[in-house]
Amino acid sequence: MLKNAKFVQDFVDTAANMYRLGWDERNGGNISMLVDEADAAPYLDLKKVIRTIPLGFDAKALAGKYFLVTGTGKYFKNMQKDPETNLGFFRVSEDGQLAELLWGWSDGGRFTSEIPAHLMSHMARLSVDPENRIIMHTHPTNLLAMTYVHECTTEAFTKTLWQMNTESIVVFPDGVEVLPWMVCGTDEIGMATAEAIKNARVVIWTMHGIYGAGKDLDEVFGLIETVEKACQLYMMTQPIGRIHVLSDDDLRALVKRFDLSPRKGIID
Ligand code: 13P
Ligand code: ZN
Repeated sequence: MLKNAKFVQDFVDTAANMYRLGWDERNGGNISMLVDEADAAPYLDLKKVIRTIPLGFDAKALAGKYFLVTGTGKYFKNMQKDPETNLGFFRVSEDGQLAELLWGWSDGGRFTSEIPAHLMSHMARLSVDPENRIIMHTHPTNLLAMTYVHECTTEAFTKTLWQMNTESIVVFPDGVEVLPWMVCGTDEIGMATAEAIKNARVVIWTMHGIYGAGKDLDEVFGLIETVEKACQLYMMTQPIGRIHVLSDDDLRALVKRFDLSPRKGIID
């Protein structure tokens, strides 16, 4: 049973943590994980395709690769207790057009509506970081709130988040890319996200949520958690008024101390 595999256990544990933090109301959010064949093979006959589902776009660059993905309309609240209904494990077909379902979505379900943004972002991140395995999309409350009251540009948002918490520039020196509001679940938002995620591991969807990328679940969860903490500090201090934030000199001192290569154009 694939649900006994460590990577599935880690996946549902992470989804449960995201739910408990209030990031994933109802079916909000989705996760995809690129899985090595060797990690799945002991648990599953990889020749047995349950059914195929058209992807709706060309994923040829990922042909033959395996993904564990949350299902559309599925609640994060329920992932841990019923992974086989809420998750699906598939291989991208040789022509890059189909998901070959090998396990999961046992109620006839299918992959998240955000599959274009996920698979296009996997392709984009793999082109700049061959170690990338995870794309995570979620709706953290303070981050969303901040997109209603803060200028939604990459430069302004990155600068404020770096100013709000000492950890920020250390954890995301590449900053955050910010996209304007767009209709979700489309190829267009998928392509825009993939383009942006080449420049930074975090992409913010104005008035919707966040995308994070990285090599494992903990890393991406921690990345989003750190962004969300800075947004929370911003939102908490906004009504009271701030008497100081980290200065450019403070940020430059952190760059020196942690030997960082910060995103250009923010503090230089
Ligand atoms: P899905 O239920 O299709 O994954 O959609 C949730 C979501 O967050 C859309 O952006
Ligand atoms: Zn969403």
